[in-house]
Amino acid sequence: MANVEKTEFRLPEPQPKASPARSADVDARAQEGEADQEVSLRPRSLGEFIGQPKVRDQLDLVLTGAKKRGVTPDHVLLSGPPGLGKTTMAMIIAYELGTSLRMTSGPALERAGDLAAMLSNLMEGDVLFIDEIHRMARPAEEMLYMAMEDFRIDVIVGKGPGATSIPLELAPFTLVGATTRSGMLTGPLRDRFGFTAQMEFYGVDDLTKVVTRAASILGVPIDADAATEIASRSRGTPRIANRLLRRVRDFAEVHSDGHIDLAAARAALIVFDVDEMGLDRLDRAVLEALIKGHGGGPVGINTLAVAVGEEPSTVEEVCEPYLVRAGMITRTGRGRVATALAWRHIGLEPPEGVMGTLY
Ligand SMILES: Nc1ncnc2c1ncn2[C@@H]1O[C@H](COP(=O)(O)OP(=O)(O)OP(=O)(O)O)[C@@H](O)[C@H]1O
Ligand SMILES: [Mg+2]
Repeated sequence: MANVEKTEFRLPEPQPKASPARSADVDARAQEGEADQEVSLRPRSLGEFIGQPKVRDQLDLVLTGAKKRGVTPDHVLLSGPPGLGKTTMAMIIAYELGTSLRMTSGPALERAGDLAAMLSNLMEGDVLFIDEIHRMARPAEEMLYMAMEDFRIDVIVGKGPGATSIPLELAPFTLVGATTRSGMLTGPLRDRFGFTAQMEFYGVDDLTKVVTRAASILGVPIDADAATEIASRSRGTPRIANRLLRRVRDFAEVHSDGHIDLAAARAALIVFDVDEMGLDRLDRAVLEALIKGHGGGPVGINTLAVAVGEEPSTVEEVCEPYLVRAGMITRTGRGRVATALAWRHIGLEPPEGVMGTLY
């Protein structure tokens, strides 16, 4: 493995910054500067993890079974929109197994050599976490197939006709992949995961627990109804719940003694432009472009993105999943269509025949 550089390990690439169109408070993507706070709020064990009962139970079985048999558990794929706890779950897997976690991300694995360096540094039983795994370069992905299946890779040494391939044994490890776009994963890669966990948006009850737990860690006094108010406006996303809690705390500290009651929570959320369904300016802009600009659709994602001045991927990965789940838009073969709920949400009466007009 002469030409394989030994990089210790790479931190995941910084997430793209939110554009000004979206207020940072409701953007489910990670932001710079809040990373430290996120770390302190992350649940460490499966028992501390709130919500996602199905994923938790299934993962518990996978991990406990493997521990009992004394083998490394199957590779795990975590998929779901930003901020639902994929990175947190990867850390929990390593914690529950009592092993160490190596982190990298798809975009950091540009060449097969980048991955070979990571893989050859793994110790037996380690958990290798690849965030945004759908963005891995092709040669690295192909190397990963063999590594996942046989714990072995072929390292190419030299260039041109003199190049030779040297087989390299790897220590058995567990790969945890995370993706916001499971549809973009190639078939062969998806098939090599023994267990796929689909993370779902959280209900208000679970998010209330997330807010209450975070408030107690941060030492912020909060009333139960205020926690529920914040939870119900968090777009089903724990990262947003934690972030709104911090903004409401700022508000309560400036305007009163720091105690968060319902009135303070509501007033703060108005200041930060979060409506009663948790939609922010960008979500509303998407609905308005769809309804006022295109009569409710169908409209293609690119047209919508241009109308709101955002990247198509942001509209597709960050806004749309929640708008679909909230029953405001539907996806059809010809594009996105607004439902009656969406028309009413922006203050318009839906024309007859629009989906959902009957209830
Ligand atoms: N089940 C949970 N219980 C409590 N807090 C949670 C839970 N899930 C996530 N969080 C909180 O939400 C924050 C975001 O979670 P995490 O970073 O794991 O999301 P992610 O799915 O990896 O997002 P991305 O796709 O942007 O990487 C964490 O810092 C953690 O505090
Ligand atoms: Mg993450």
